[in-house]
Amino acid sequence: MIMPRILVTGAAGFIGSNFVRLLLRKRTETDVIALDALTYAGNLESLTDCVGNPKYRFVRADICDADAVAPIFGEGLDAVVNFAAESHVDRSIMGAQEFVRTNVVGVQILLDLAREHGVGRFLQVSTDEVYGSLGPTGTFSEQTPIAPNSPYSASKAAADLLVRAYHVTFGVPTLITRCSNNYGPYQFPEKLIPLFVTNLLMGRKVPLYGDGLNVRDWIHVEDHCEGILTVLEKAQPGAVYNLGGNKELRNIEIVRHILSHLGQDESMIEYVKDRPGHDRRYAMDITRIQADLGWAPRVPFEKGLAETIDWYVAHEEWREHIRSGEYLTYYERQYGTGGVVGTDT
Ligand code: NAD
Ligand code: DAU
Repeated sequence: MIMPRILVTGAAGFIGSNFVRLLLRKRTETDVIALDALTYAGNLESLTDCVGNPKYRFVRADICDADAVAPIFGEGLDAVVNFAAESHVDRSIMGAQEFVRTNVVGVQILLDLAREHGVGRFLQVSTDEVYGSLGPTGTFSEQTPIAPNSPYSASKAAADLLVRAYHVTFGVPTLITRCSNNYGPYQFPEKLIPLFVTNLLMGRKVPLYGDGLNVRDWIHVEDHCEGILTVLEKAQPGAVYNLGGNKELRNIEIVRHILSHLGQDESMIEYVKDRPGHDRRYAMDITRIQADLGWAPRVPFEKGLAETIDWYVAHEEWREHIRSGEYLTYYERQYGTGGVVGTDT
């Protein structure tokens, strides 16, 4: 399926920037409009290698600002892929307002624009966290009832329900993907793997929550992005698909992998107070996407993690610009100070 124009929202974040890169590499006929509000989690330096590609355009805008976003929909869009979100569980526990604003109201605004302008496909990037927490056995399927436990996952679940409702009520051609924990290059160092790697590179200890035995299912970001592209191009409107890496690990096991790769020992672990409402275990049943669309994760975890750690080691400037806050000035340095909404064309 050829899609001449795709809008990617949340494009300067971890997964969004990897998805933009994948589109430019694999769908060379597609014009990619990369939109982001550049919150603390948005980093334009993660997209520097796209600048100069005639198929790439960056727009700084907030998805909650319908007036700023509407002209892009007015250009005619074959697809919208929405990554824009407040994404960090710990921050949602500190304060939920921004999570409801972007993750719920922002999605409603995008859905209204998609409806009004007849967008070809609207794909909402969701999460396994909408299903809640598992005991020692079992997996989440697409039929598992929604039961979120954090303000973050509650806001993502609310968005999923809105997406469903816009499909049923208005016929908006929506798709939802729910994926497990991603790792890979360009992840903001507030999440487990990049936080622990960057701490260790600075000689700091790593804060492991609770008993360190919570289980997550890990998937390389490139596998996730390939899965999103597969769903976008092949799935029937209204569909929901789980994605996962088939790689369950306890947090302590992840930490041991990182310590060993960096030649450090367990004296660098600091056990700290647990996250309130900390989900114990996530595990995904991905048989539906495998059977319907033929997608499966490919990157072996040990190889993917080793390459990811090496990427953070090698990208010292990227890390340092985040540490110093310099990354927040990148937009103004590249595009000038022209107000909140900007574009590189
Ligand atoms: P991220 O925090 O790295 O990126 C989010 C991006 O959204 C940032 O660039 C930020 O500037 C932008 N943004 C925030 N509010 C905005 C607004 N109002 N308008 C426009 N842009 C805004 O997050 P991520 O890890 O890349 O996650 C992307 C999406 O994937 C999220 O929706 C998240 O829920 C989902 N997801 C993430 C994971 C994971 O493991 N990271 C797994 C499954 C699903
Ligand atoms: O499952 C998908 C979700 O994965 C996404 O929807 C979220 O956007 C993404 O942030 C991620 O959520 P988690 O809460 O699972 O990821 P995080 O990296 O914050 O934590 C992973 C595990 O590590 C979790 O059990 C908490 C633990 N942890 C995390 C941090 C930041 C620690 O022990 N110490 C820490 O400092």
